[in-house]
Amino acid sequence: MLADYIREYVKGECGNSAMGRELYENHLILVAHYGIKLAMETGADPEIVELAAYLHDFSFVIDDMDVKQHEAKGVAIADKLLRQFNYPHDKLERVKSCILNHSSLSRACGASREEGCLANADVMSRIAKPDYWINVFSMTSNEEELIKRFYEQIERSWPLMMPFARAIVEDMYNELLKKKAFIEV
Ligand SMILES: [Fe+2]
Ligand SMILES: [Fe+2]
Repeated sequence: MLADYIREYVKGECGNSAMGRELYENHLILVAHYGIKLAMETGADPEIVELAAYLHDFSFVIDDMDVKQHEAKGVAIADKLLRQFNYPHDKLERVKSCILNHSSLSRACGASREEGCLANADVMSRIAKPDYWINVFSMTSNEEELIKRFYEQIERSWPLMMPFARAIVEDMYNELLKKKAFIEV
């Protein structure tokens, strides 16, 4: 299956650096896991969501850490990669739309089912692994600001998420709120 090949390809490329390995283990694989779950529940195409999940942040691994451009760069990477497999044009466009809109929950949820699933799975993954993200931010010079923004973004996203997605990660979300309250003391 193509998704299996892309997963192994992404895993292999991520394995070339510590940062890549961490991203794969703590984020990409989780986004795929949750994305497939949501696709099954909502009637979205699980293959589209799974492919987009492996590739949505992949530009950080094979290009650079440009957060502002990473959606567009991810789209270009997916386009080049999936064309090599003669992936059908209409499906390719749907994968690319998922990647392009994955950072905006409101925009993605107002678009296709697949886009909604990927954007929700992206937030679910952050709720499930807050320590990973906080570790990433602690390597930057503006650590405190980024950690504060991380918690704020999760809280803002929560009411926008699919009820089914919220139900899956509710316990972890409540734990995250406790951590946030702890650092605010
Ligand atoms: Fe992203
Ligand atoms: Fe992501």
